Amino acid sequence: MKAVLIIFVYSVVILATNADGSPRKHSNKTNICMQCMCLTLQPYTVDCMNARYEELPPLTMNITYPWKLQLTHNKIRHIPQFPLLHNLIKLDLGRNGIKNIDEAAFANLYDLKGLVLAYNNLSAEILETHVFKGTNMLQPLGLEELDLSYNNLHSLEGHTLQYLPNLTKLHINNNPIHDIPYDMATAINTLENLEELDLSQCNLDRLPYHFLTDLRKLRKLTLAGNKLSIVPAEVNYAHSLTYLNLNGNPITTIMKGDFSEALRNVQELELSGMPVLRSVGPEAFSSLDHLAVLKMCDNPKLRSINMYAFTFFDLNRQLQEIYLQSNALTTLAEDMLPWTTLKVVDLQNNPWSCDCKLRWLAEDLIPLIERTNPSKTLSLICAEPDTDRGHKLTNIVGKPNAFSCDPPYIPKYTIYSPVAIAIIAVGITLMITSAIIFAYTLYRRTKVKSLLGETVRYRRAHSIDEDGYDEIVES
Ligand SMILES: *[C@@H]1O[C@H](CO)[C@@H](O)[C@H](O)[C@H]1NC(C)=O
Ligand SMILES: *[C@@H]1O[C@H](CO)[C@@H](O)[C@H](O)[C@H]1NC(C)=O
Ligand SMILES: *[C@@H]1O[C@H](CO)[C@@H](O)[C@H](O)[C@H]1NC(C)=O
Ligand SMILES: *[C@@H]1O[C@H](CO)[C@@H](O)[C@H](O)[C@H]1NC(C)=O
Repeated sequence: MKAVLIIFVYSVVILATNADGSPRKHSNKTNICMQCMCLTLQPYTVDCMNARYEELPPLTMNITYPWKLQLTHNKIRHIPQFPLLHNLIKLDLGRNGIKNIDEAAFANLYDLKGLVLAYNNLSAEILETHVFKGTNMLQPLGLEELDLSYNNLHSLEGHTLQYLPNLTKLHINNNPIHDIPYDMATAINTLENLEELDLSQCNLDRLPYHFLTDLRKLRKLTLAGNKLSIVPAEVNYAHSLTYLNLNGNPITTIMKGDFSEALRNVQELELSGMPVLRSVGPEAFSSLDHLAVLKMCDNPKLRSINMYAFTFFDLNRQLQEIYLQSNALTTLAEDMLPWTTLKVVDLQNNPWSCDCKLRWLAEDLIPLIERTNPSKTLSLICAEPDTDRGHKLTNIVGKPNAFSCDPPYIPKYTIYSPVAIAIIAVGITLMITSAIIFAYTLYRRTKVKSLLGETVRYRRAHSIDEDGYDEIVES
């Protein structure tokens, strides 16, 4: 779509590029559109992508409406201070192999709102403290969005971001951070207007203590693809969160208390693509009063969601969409949610065990989904019992013995399962042990009695028995 638009514009608008293929140095051409593509997009775009620049091109134009400068895929290793460029609102310097950036490099770009420095192998040393400085402290940069993704950042100097009071969106995803150092936490915490923070794919296994406490306006937090093995308690300090993404982390279970009452503003929660997520416990989501969208899909080991996972959660008011497709769910409790009032329910690609506990799904819920969202019913298939394996849930409704919990329905392997064998083994051991104990007790009793001088009666009884036996034999 975007490509089509660009091609269209390309054919309509001024088109002038340097075709000789040599690296471009400063030139005295004053019209940048002689060197780059100037596209009447919204905003107006000067596209110098892939133009083999090794330095900033001459930028002396005076554009009187908002515009965007695209300098990606060049070889501008050194970023000097930009000249005054009125109305430049977005600057993309991605993929240049930047080696250094001058102090206050962007100070003259008074209208700049978005800056992209992605894919540059930037380190904290390159991004030193005064890179983002404005012309002076009274005139900080008005930058609202900064993209530092796909670099080589292990940290950030503590004051690097202090000149960006208006920053609302920060992308640091895909950097080898591992453990957010104190300096970096400080740098991020100075951004009091920050609303969106992307820390995905940073190898994080925890968040620093109280990391999010100062970010009072943070609405969107993305921690996808890290190494978090539990829901970090620090997310509960981000009181304004409306969106939280924990996709792809090695979390094994979601429990009560993972999401506290402090997260009552969260409207959308993503817990998908988790390789080892196995269960969701009772009251796991009970504190999320405003949850409207829950995406919990593609978790190959997620076999169960506790039927009380949403208890105390005022459902009638909020939850609208739930995505549970492609998990390992075998059953689902009818009472877990007011299923029929939800706008979107996706339960496809789970190995459903079609017994009596799932009858409601086939008879009540699926027909409803079929009417409202037919595409969400294409793959609702039984994995058990054997007789129904591979059949759509809706196709076995009305079949004799369908959705039955009565015998002869016997779950696979019950008879000779390891558990049964273990029980039998334990039983046999117990029997042998009690026999031994019984024999030993008998033996001791005999001994004790003999010590107490009661042997006589025993012997007598024995001899009587023997006599009796002899008599019988003789008779
Ligand atoms: C560009 O500058 C060079 C010297 O740097 C000069 O020789 C050339 O004439 C200039 N070209 C134009 C079009 O001004
Ligand atoms: C550029 O345009 C602005 C108005 O947008 C004007 O104030 C300024 O003087 C112009 N500068 C130059 C160098 O032409
Ligand atoms: C990235 O920068 C580091 C030093 O900060 C260097 O060792 C490494 O080779 C660079 N990687 C690439 C792909 O340029
Ligand atoms: C920051 O935002 C405020 C409020 O929107 C605005 O008044 C101010 O001019 C902005 N600062 C800069 C440097 O753009």
